[in-house]
Amino acid sequence: MAFAERHLLGLEGMGAEAITSILDSAASFKEISDRDIKKVPALRGKTVINLFYENSTRTRTSFEIAAKRLSADTVNISESSSSASKGETLVDTARNLEAMRPDAIVLRHSMSGAAHLLARHVSCPIINAGDGCHEHPSQALLDLLTIRERRGAIAGLTVAIVGDLLHSRVGRSNLHGLRALGATVRVVGPPTLVPREFAALGAEVHTRLVDGVRDADVVMMLRVQRERMGANFFPSLDEYSHYYCLTEEVVRLAKPQVIILHPGPMNRGLEISSAVADGPYSVIMNQVTNGVAVRMALLYLLIARSKAEDAAELEAATDAPVVRGRSGGRA
Ligand code: CP
Repeated sequence: MAFAERHLLGLEGMGAEAITSILDSAASFKEISDRDIKKVPALRGKTVINLFYENSTRTRTSFEIAAKRLSADTVNISESSSSASKGETLVDTARNLEAMRPDAIVLRHSMSGAAHLLARHVSCPIINAGDGCHEHPSQALLDLLTIRERRGAIAGLTVAIVGDLLHSRVGRSNLHGLRALGATVRVVGPPTLVPREFAALGAEVHTRLVDGVRDADVVMMLRVQRERMGANFFPSLDEYSHYYCLTEEVVRLAKPQVIILHPGPMNRGLEISSAVADGPYSVIMNQVTNGVAVRMALLYLLIARSKAEDAAELEAATDAPVVRGRSGGRA
């Protein structure tokens, strides 16, 4: 089934057809960013709130740019600039924002499940922009779009996801998305950072970097999330980098046309060497470019669909046709 959800909370349980429909929409939105005038009226008159309780460079900026390229108005709120700093709960904040009639709220929060919580309390679409160690679906979708662009299809590829999987919402969302699209997924890292549940989700588990990378089509490096580590998960940063840093020597074990991804921000020299990050196999900047297109597609699909549903409900309730705007006709 094509993507028809009211919210985007995660990729767990999302089928291949829904994921493919988002990627197809993103691919068609991509050329707008190459135009001289990078704007279309698809979401004119709509309002998108970016509610970010954690720092972000890529996600927040690309959601804002995506909304603006669709002519939506944007409002950015950080934890320090909101009344959360005065003790207001996340739900109260969201309900107050909803009372101002936004058309979507994009939420980043350190608590796993925060986006699901808001989706139960507000009626406008909620987009999960990263919740704790749980999911980061828009990041995984832009990763999938990047892989699909480079390799033509995702089914049949072998993808190694390497590093701090325990704390990685990016790794978890990618595992769901890649498996749904038919890739073989290897998760690679020290036993302390690779949850056992990943095997139950269909991943091959490797503890040696060379075994995980050998003959892989795609290598996705994950950031070591020191800010989420309450205990020592490995003896030292030097030891981690000795065993798990992706160097040119290790890349040579992968397939000759391998592509290297990293969601950013990168710890250069810890999980990835600069030679690899900036080298010929790296598609890291392509990922960032694709982030805008994926977020344009998500905003468009969720907001246009939500308005179409509201109009249908109003029509049913009042028995009178509702006049739709140019962008509100169908999802
Ligand atoms: N990849 C990612 O989520 O980056 P930011 O934290 O900068 O948004």
